[in-house]
Amino acid sequence: MRVYQVSGYREMSQRAADLIIAQILLNPQSVLGLATGSTPIGVYERLVEKHNRGELDCSGLTTFNLDEYCGLSEEDPQSYHYFMNSHLFSKVNIRKDKIHIPDPSGDIEKECKQYDSLIEAHGGIDLQLLGIGNNGHIGFNEPGTVYEGGTHCVDLDESTIQANARFFDNPDDVPRKAVTMGMKSIMLAKKVLLIANGEAKKAILEKSLYGPITPMVPASVLQLHPGLIVVWSAD
Ligand code: GLP
Repeated sequence: MRVYQVSGYREMSQRAADLIIAQILLNPQSVLGLATGSTPIGVYERLVEKHNRGELDCSGLTTFNLDEYCGLSEEDPQSYHYFMNSHLFSKVNIRKDKIHIPDPSGDIEKECKQYDSLIEAHGGIDLQLLGIGNNGHIGFNEPGTVYEGGTHCVDLDESTIQANARFFDNPDDVPRKAVTMGMKSIMLAKKVLLIANGEAKKAILEKSLYGPITPMVPASVLQLHPGLIVVWSAD
């Protein structure tokens, strides 16, 4: 594990973006795993800036997003489809047919199986970007007694519903369910880039990186990942 402690959100975003840019320059056909939440917004901004300067070609990339809420349409501003479109996809030259986000609108079980097969058919994820939830969740893999391997449907933790309520007009509008890539798909990524910032994430990050490895702290399993890079800022 390599841990970069940096100073402030800007530096965290730049450092993480530099790592993703290096991955893309080394392999323009890379398969990227992408994350949502407030933490990666600055990373996407840096990628867009680089693209706008004519220094980043995203046309060869394939992307797989970690997760999506159940019950929101793709056009809903709170959906992760909408988030990814507005922060990244509509601003760079990623091909639409190479973008993948779990779609919980139809037969969820079938969708989950297809999602995992598609990742496998692309040779797995080269670099997976991850944020971390206040309770140690990654994607929407919530604390529990087992690690769920593949893409699956989850009941969101009460603490996650409360944490994510800040994005919704009414806390009751926060979906109670989501579809997320499982721990196996995440752990099979060749490299994992975990980003976090702020005092509020300090304790859970330390617990995840240096505490016991347990499904009660999903991110703790990342200690077993040989290609884990953490970019973290306390402020
Ligand atoms: C959501 C997402 C996670 C993300 C987490 C933290 O629950 N499913 O992928 O890591 O939020 O979000 P934030 O970066 O806003 O703290």
